[in-house]
Amino acid sequence: MRTPLLILAVVGVVCRSPSLAAQAPVEQRITALIAQMTLAEKLGQLNLPTWNPGANPSQADLVRRGLVGGFLNLDGADATRDMQKIAVEQSRLHIPLLFGQDVIHGYRTTFPIPLGEASAWDPELAEATAKFAAREARAAGLNWTFAPMVDIARDPRWGRIAEGSGEDPYLGSALAVARVRGFQQYILATVKHFAAYGGAEAGREYNTVDMSERTLREVYLPPYKAAVDAGVGSVMSAFNEIGGVPSSANPWLTNTVLRGEWRFRGFVVSDWTSVAELVAHGIAASPSEAGRLALAAGVDMDMVAAIYVDSLPALVGSGRIPMAQVDEAVRRILREKFRLRLFDDPYRAMPPVEPDKALARRAAQESIVLLKNDGGLLPIAATAKTIAVIGPLAADTVNPLGPWSGKSRPSDVVSVLAGIKERAGAGVTVLTAPGTGVTDGDTSGIAAAVAMAQQADLTILVVGEADTMSGEASSRSALGLPGAQEQLERAIIATGKPVVLVLMSGRPLVLSWSAEHVPAILETWFLGDETGHAIADVLFGDVNPSGRLPVTFPRSVGQIPIYYAQKNTGRPAAPGQHFTSKYLDIANTPLYPFGFGLSYTTFAYSGLKVASARLRPSDTLVVSVTVANTGARAGTDVAQLYIHDAVGSVTRPLRQLKGFQRVELAAGATKTVELRVPVQQLGFWNQAMRYVVEPGTFHVYVGSSSTADLMGTFEVVGRP
Ligand code: NOJ
Repeated sequence: MRTPLLILAVVGVVCRSPSLAAQAPVEQRITALIAQMTLAEKLGQLNLPTWNPGANPSQADLVRRGLVGGFLNLDGADATRDMQKIAVEQSRLHIPLLFGQDVIHGYRTTFPIPLGEASAWDPELAEATAKFAAREARAAGLNWTFAPMVDIARDPRWGRIAEGSGEDPYLGSALAVARVRGFQQYILATVKHFAAYGGAEAGREYNTVDMSERTLREVYLPPYKAAVDAGVGSVMSAFNEIGGVPSSANPWLTNTVLRGEWRFRGFVVSDWTSVAELVAHGIAASPSEAGRLALAAGVDMDMVAAIYVDSLPALVGSGRIPMAQVDEAVRRILREKFRLRLFDDPYRAMPPVEPDKALARRAAQESIVLLKNDGGLLPIAATAKTIAVIGPLAADTVNPLGPWSGKSRPSDVVSVLAGIKERAGAGVTVLTAPGTGVTDGDTSGIAAAVAMAQQADLTILVVGEADTMSGEASSRSALGLPGAQEQLERAIIATGKPVVLVLMSGRPLVLSWSAEHVPAILETWFLGDETGHAIADVLFGDVNPSGRLPVTFPRSVGQIPIYYAQKNTGRPAAPGQHFTSKYLDIANTPLYPFGFGLSYTTFAYSGLKVASARLRPSDTLVVSVTVANTGARAGTDVAQLYIHDAVGSVTRPLRQLKGFQRVELAAGATKTVELRVPVQQLGFWNQAMRYVVEPGTFHVYVGSSSTADLMGTFEVVGRP
């Protein structure tokens, strides 16, 4: 009893004497602060409204009364400073506010969408772009971002696949860590959407998720766990349910796994009105019941719904919600405010910075994946004197910004046409026509585009999705080119002239026709500000493409979900065997596998060596392999290491990525690369749902994609 009273006394002094306050350990300062708070002020800390300048009563007034913990979407150095001033000077307890926003792939300087950037397989790059985005956001008064999104996605119908790192937990974890580190050099990061939001049935946004605990733990949870281990300050609870329990009211997920098993010490924020939506889910009969369930499940901050601040006072008053539960949520939020040093320096002001075009260009270059290049059509030959740049996205400066484009500006974007013109120079004639719109069915411009292609030595066909076709609430059932673009593509191909397809998309598209008929294909996702420069760099061979797919490209929507880490099944497909796991009308294999991407040079792998063929669970697997650049240009390959646990007490995927390394090689050069994997990472969740590394035989594959065939073998011996 004595200690808290003492602390309270100290804080009474401390409020007038900040230097003394700063000396008390943070947890004690939080305890003291909580002891001073009214219930309304406590629930105020849990309240995260979106900025609404027309609100009545005004939001400034709510801040004065201590009824707001932070804002969503209030930004700008002046606006945030003014509001923060009200919080720290005019509210009773002077508690500073959080200012959060979705800074997904850049604030002003716009980098490739996260799925695009994942194609670089370059955590150092992901950290650099996140860090720069956070720096710009900080200068605009923000101290918190709702990123990174780390949801594994194996269904490209789901539009939010654009915001994540693709299908694989290992690559996803590496990039989650990198982005958390990058963001948190300037602001607080949020890992989202906890959990398994990407597992939506049929790829339909916000839809039900139902999966085994094993799949959840082995595939969907690892990137969140990696982010927690990297020190992420907040976690966002997802909209979806898993097996009947909505994630925004799931005590097992939040309290048992996140806080209990993983020792997460930050706070959990709901998604936008996801607490209120517990009523629509049908597990709460009223908003206040929804609030009670969410808080009990460990969701500390209520985004937008205002249920905590409005409806929980009565439930706390009647004893249905223990005060300790409220205090704990307040504590977690205050802890992060302390960690951000907001109590010492609430404004955290930083001067604006110039956009980092060089970083944006490098990120865009590394994100481009060369899917096809028959006859070495690329890089563009010096003999191409007339180039037609055709397609609705050719001169476009809006769509290349992609979904969640923040404060980006189309005027900052270099279009593909502008990039090509700039690089081609005066000796090359560049013709252009849109041919069609992006989404409408108007075919009236196709004839003119075809006539132009006929006059040209080479056509660059720039087609794809609109920026609004991926991201939130943007699921698609058909994954071809929208509008009349397929007609345009076929008409241009029918000219018989050489064509390079430059694709923009927020997801894998179904490209079966193109793969058969178009000689060269570049997947460029949405590359952001430096789109045109980066694409021209690759088209003209100034940059050798090094992007590798972070997600499988299906042959047909009917194959979805399709991913490389499949199980064998009891009846794997076998030629001529009818009763096996296959389709009657299509191969099981994808059009382009995970990890795949071409280069203007070629790479060969040889001499795979496993340093020790018998490993204990506490050992590290060390695999070396020689990578040779067997072509005539310098290039970068991504050496990928996959394992297969031959026999387990539960079935194991045929391959699992466990390591990768970008390898830069001059023409003709070779390098021996060493990849290291702690044996502890080769385990799985057994039938008793315990994580185990089982003894037995493992195969290891190293090469340029998930279909690498260079193989080694090792044994794991003894139990951990
Ligand atoms: C809803 C989205 O699901 C989430 O990712 C985002 O952070 C919030 N809205 C806030 O904009």
